[in-house]
Amino acid sequence: MADILSQIKERAKLKNKNIVLTEGEDARVVSAAAAVVKEGFARITLLGNKAEIEKNNAGVDLTGVNVVDPKTDAKADEYAAMLYKAREGKINKKTGLPEYADIEQAKAAILKDYAMYGALMLKAGIVDGMVSGACHSTANTLRPGLQVIKTAAGVNTVSSAFIMIAPAPHKYNPDGVAVFADCAINIEPDANQLADIAISSAETAKNIAGIEPRVAMLSFSTKGSGNDDKYFKSVPKMQEATRIAKENAPDLILDGEFQFDAATAPEVGKLKAPDSKVAGNANVFIFPNINAGNIGYKIAQRFGGYMALGPICQGFAKPINDLSRGCNADDVVAVVAITALQAE
Ligand SMILES: CC(C)(COP(=O)(O)OP(=O)(O)OC[C@H]1O[C@@H](n2cnc3c(N)ncnc32)[C@H](O)[C@@H]1OP(=O)(O)O)[C@@H](O)C(=O)NCCC(=O)NCCS
Repeated sequence: MADILSQIKERAKLKNKNIVLTEGEDARVVSAAAAVVKEGFARITLLGNKAEIEKNNAGVDLTGVNVVDPKTDAKADEYAAMLYKAREGKINKKTGLPEYADIEQAKAAILKDYAMYGALMLKAGIVDGMVSGACHSTANTLRPGLQVIKTAAGVNTVSSAFIMIAPAPHKYNPDGVAVFADCAINIEPDANQLADIAISSAETAKNIAGIEPRVAMLSFSTKGSGNDDKYFKSVPKMQEATRIAKENAPDLILDGEFQFDAATAPEVGKLKAPDSKVAGNANVFIFPNINAGNIGYKIAQRFGGYMALGPICQGFAKPINDLSRGCNADDVVAVVAITALQAE
């Protein structure tokens, strides 16, 4: 982990991006802000009231951290207008009413929800990436991004991936690194969404993990061997996802559907899918749904001793990443490094 992370920081440093941390009320986030600026691989904008942050974090040196208080920020009106315009005509599912009746209501909302404030700063180009979620749920962190940042060109699905780092390289993972997706965002993705997840995960593998992606679309079936899933039609779904991904990214080394052993073990791959370039040597693994993905990465972590770096969000037009609520300050620093590297 240390190696990959230091490489990520070194590469991020060359980009010198400005990342907004929206949770100035959280001590782990504040220490991370100070640590990132000290390490010098990104600039930091921290949301909150400076006097309160200093009072609650005595001893943390915030020199070089740009603290912005949404409540006194001269740009708040501009962001409120941006939000109102971006969401005009959208109906709140719970109330059945427009999300924001007018700009004043949008302003009141962003002064309560700093993840939305941060997303609007990102949309306006004031910052290059956003990290949140140390003390808010995944949904609260991602929703502002889904609503106002939207997806990157050519992608319709925001998803997430884990970079899985082996305790030591072994015969089924000679690189010692793999990418697993989607383990955290899309609950039951359809074939089109799975194709998006596969293509985005290949980019994450290349751009963040630094490996040449060979993508396996996973199933309990290999090349039609178990095509009798009457419950969820998951085999035809993975077959269709494979077809769409190949069509949308013809240069990508991607194949499926594979059982995990056919994807990773050369002896099984040769037997079950002899003509495949991916069978037996995959390093990017796309799971059919969040149940399989989430359980799968935790098995690798707990039984296999893998370290899981992520979840890394992919597919946003500008990078946003979600922290785990159990994170420590080092985890926040790592997620800032990834976000800074994702920023264009
Ligand atoms: C990601 C998530 C938070 C979105 O939830 P949500 O806000 O209720 O989503 P909604 O269906 O209301 O959609 C809100 C907007 O985001 C868009 N959207 C939702 N999911 C999206 C996705 N994966 N990619 C792109 N856009 C998406 C919708 O199209 C909608 O756009 P619109 O309002 O402009 O029309 C939700 O899928 C979720 O909770 N996933 C599981 C997260 C989880 O619990 N993870 C466990 C952690 S390990």
